[in-house]
Amino acid sequence: MAKKDLKWDSIGFNYHQTDKRYVSNYKDGAWDEGRLVDDPNVTINESAGILQYCQQVFEGMKAYTWENGEVVCFRPDLNAERIYNSAQRIEMPPVPKEKFLDAIDQVVKGNLDWVPPYGSGASLYIRPYEFATGVVIGVKPADTYQFRVFTTPVGPYYKGGVTPIVLQVSDYDRAAPHGTGAVKAGLNYAMSLHASVLCHQAGYNENLYLDPGTRTFVEETGGSNVIFVKDKTVIVPKSDSILPSITRRSIVYIAEHYLKLKVEERPVKFEEVKGFDEAGCCGTAAVISPVGKIVDHDEEINFPSGMDHAGPVITELYNTITGIQNGRIEAPEGWIRHIA
Ligand code: PLP
Ligand code: COI
Repeated sequence: MAKKDLKWDSIGFNYHQTDKRYVSNYKDGAWDEGRLVDDPNVTINESAGILQYCQQVFEGMKAYTWENGEVVCFRPDLNAERIYNSAQRIEMPPVPKEKFLDAIDQVVKGNLDWVPPYGSGASLYIRPYEFATGVVIGVKPADTYQFRVFTTPVGPYYKGGVTPIVLQVSDYDRAAPHGTGAVKAGLNYAMSLHASVLCHQAGYNENLYLDPGTRTFVEETGGSNVIFVKDKTVIVPKSDSILPSITRRSIVYIAEHYLKLKVEERPVKFEEVKGFDEAGCCGTAAVISPVGKIVDHDEEINFPSGMDHAGPVITELYNTITGIQNGRIEAPEGWIRHIA
C-alpha cells in the first residue's frame, strides 16, 4: 500500500477517479447485500426515474488521515440520517443507517491510498447517492433504485483556501416555500446552476439566497450554510428551507462548548447583515470559508474583517473544527468514526 502520487496541496475540488466504489441495488422491496466494484460507469434504462424526473438524493462527507496514520470520518451518522430523510421526501426507499455506515467503511477502506496524508490540507471527499433506476414515463416514483458511494481526494472548495470570498445576493431563489430546500436532492442544485453561472460571470464567488417567501431573510449559499459574528456572538440563520448543515451544527456546538461564545440561532434579516463583524460559509466542501464582502446590486457590505484574512472568531471556529477533524483537538463523544 502506498499513497497515490498526487500534488495534494494543489488538487483543488475536482473529481479524480479512485479505485473502488460501492454499489447496492433496491428491487422488490429490499436492498441487496452491496459490494465494491471497479467500474465507475453506470448503465441505466433511457427512461429511468433519475433521467426523466430527477429522482435522486446525495450526501457529501470527508475522510481524514490523522498524524498517527489512522483514517477517520467526521460525524457520518448525521449524513446517514440526513440522506434517510432526503430519500423519504423524494419518495425513495431510504438506505438503512447501518447499511450506509458500512458502505462508507467499505469504500474508504477500498481507497486508502487515495486518502490524502496528514498535514496536506486535503481530504478524501465521499459522495454517497441514491437514484431511481426504474423505468417511469408517467410522473411517479420508480420501483427500483441504486445506492452508490464514490470517493475523490479534494483540496479547498474555493481557490485560495481560507482567503475571504465575495458573495452576491441572487435575484433567483434556491428553494420554494414548503419545497425541498431542506433536503439534499440533486434537483436543488440543477435549478441553482443558471444563477451560479451568472454569479461567476459577474466575478463573484458564490450566490447568497434570500428567503423565497419574502426575500428579506438570509437563507444560505448554493453549497453551504452561512454564519455571522457580531460582538463575539455567533449568529446562525434559521429557516425551514435551508439544508441542516452538519458543519453548521458542529460549529454551534464548538462555539458554545469549546469557545464559550454566545450563539443565536434565529431568522436573520438581510437588513441586519451590514451591522455584523464577520461572516463565513460553512459546509463539508467549504469547511468554513470566510466572507469578506456581500454585494447586493449597487450596495456593498464590507465586513470589518476585510478581504485579506478571516476575522478572529471565524478563525477560532475554523481552527477548532479542523483541529477536531484532523485529530489535533479532542472531539466530543461520537463525532469521529475510526475506519482504518
Ligand atoms: N447547504 C447546501 C446547499 C449544501 O450543499 C451543503 C453541503 O453539503 C451545505 C449547506 C453544508 O452541509 P454540510 O455541512 O452537512 O456539508
Ligand atoms: C458538500 O459540501 O458536501 C456539498 O455537497 C456541497 C457541494 C457544493 C460540493
